[in-house]
Amino acid sequence: MSPTATTRSHKHVLTPWYKQSAVGGPTFVRGEGSWLFDDQGKRYLDLSAGLVSTNLGHGHPAVVKAIQEQAAKICYLPPSLVHDVRSEFAELLSEVSPWSEGARTFFTTGGGEANEDAIKMSRMITGRHKVLAAYRSFHGSAPGAGSLTGEDRRWANEPGLPGIVHFFAPYPYRSPFFTEDPKLETARALEHLEQVITFEGGKNIAALVIEPVVGSNGVIVYPEGYLAGLREITAKHGIVLVFDEVMTGFGRVGDRFAATRFGVTPDMITFAKGSSSAYIPLGGVMVREGLAKHFDDVALMCGHTYAGHPMAMAAGLATVSTLKKEGLFERAREIDPWLEEGLGALKAKHRVIGDVRGVGAFYTIELVKDRDTKEPLVPWYGGDNAPMGKLTGALRNEGVYAFGRYNVLLVTPPLTIKRDELQVGLDGLDRALKVLG
Ligand SMILES: Cc1ncc(COP(=O)(O)O)c(C=O)c1O
Repeated sequence: MSPTATTRSHKHVLTPWYKQSAVGGPTFVRGEGSWLFDDQGKRYLDLSAGLVSTNLGHGHPAVVKAIQEQAAKICYLPPSLVHDVRSEFAELLSEVSPWSEGARTFFTTGGGEANEDAIKMSRMITGRHKVLAAYRSFHGSAPGAGSLTGEDRRWANEPGLPGIVHFFAPYPYRSPFFTEDPKLETARALEHLEQVITFEGGKNIAALVIEPVVGSNGVIVYPEGYLAGLREITAKHGIVLVFDEVMTGFGRVGDRFAATRFGVTPDMITFAKGSSSAYIPLGGVMVREGLAKHFDDVALMCGHTYAGHPMAMAAGLATVSTLKKEGLFERAREIDPWLEEGLGALKAKHRVIGDVRGVGAFYTIELVKDRDTKEPLVPWYGGDNAPMGKLTGALRNEGVYAFGRYNVLLVTPPLTIKRDELQVGLDGLDRALKVLG
């Protein structure tokens, strides 16, 4: 650990989501494949692919080369000027999108911005103003996307964007609908949504934004029929259905998108993270052609200086081409049983693991004080989360990085991970879990 970097960081960096006094640990200087390296040369298995984002692992040569070559050609171009790589990348996105009619993409620098632009476009297209979003969701931090967010990371924004209405979606492990039967969970959740729409007025609702698999709120895989039910209800009311695929997109769930994995097609997809393997800030809104053409004769009132930035376009094009060429959209299906089996074995050994769930290379362990009562290891909001800090600290001592939030730890490795590398991570997790007794 470099005291200089840590001291400087404490003095000059504001780190997201943390009490600044709690920030510390090793100083990271390098990444390669599934590994991070600190300034002492110690390596750490990246068990969460950063923030569920470095889908290609660190330093994939094809993306690094594309970034270098683009930098040598042109680093910046206004979004209003046509750019060769931007056009090519958008065409590729249309090709991998779930829509047979094709898609057009509005580029942003991240996921939160993409969600805000999706709301704005939906409002312009429908002439309506309200937006529905789920509790236990994260859609971004800035005031617009933060208002969509359905948990405590929204609160500092409040009062936020007017017109955002939250509803409950299924959560089989802790059902908000008082059932352990997935069919009933789906039916009751859809009935609840219909009621919310009735009382908000379907004709007032522009969009419904949802993570098709919930991410940082605990990798909640919705029970069968829920996403299809959402599609049916939103279509009936003329509501634009937006899948926030910032975490689920680009191979994370074993397909191009969660939309293609689950066979449910929204009207827009917002993306970020895996689209450039997070090497360069990149996000966007993919809009199905039928809606995108609305803007042929109506000005699109969205814009950012860095929309469609050449460096991001080069990174995105190289990333998505590599995912396609190397069969990595599907690779998570191979990783899935390794995670299910490996984490299942940990659950059998450690009573602190209340639930193991996930799909593809998108898994979590949910930690509890008591398996029978399911009392969370740390309170969901605002309580003492020291035990989670203890766990992530112990993991680092074991040479593993993983992203923990609330009482969940995300196990979402790079899509390029080898089985023996993953085992190193799981063995480290096994040893680290002992600190929780
Ligand atoms: C599902 C989801 N949507 C949106 C965001 C926000 O993306 P960004 O941090 O790029 O603004 C995140 C970030 O973790 C996310 O997980």
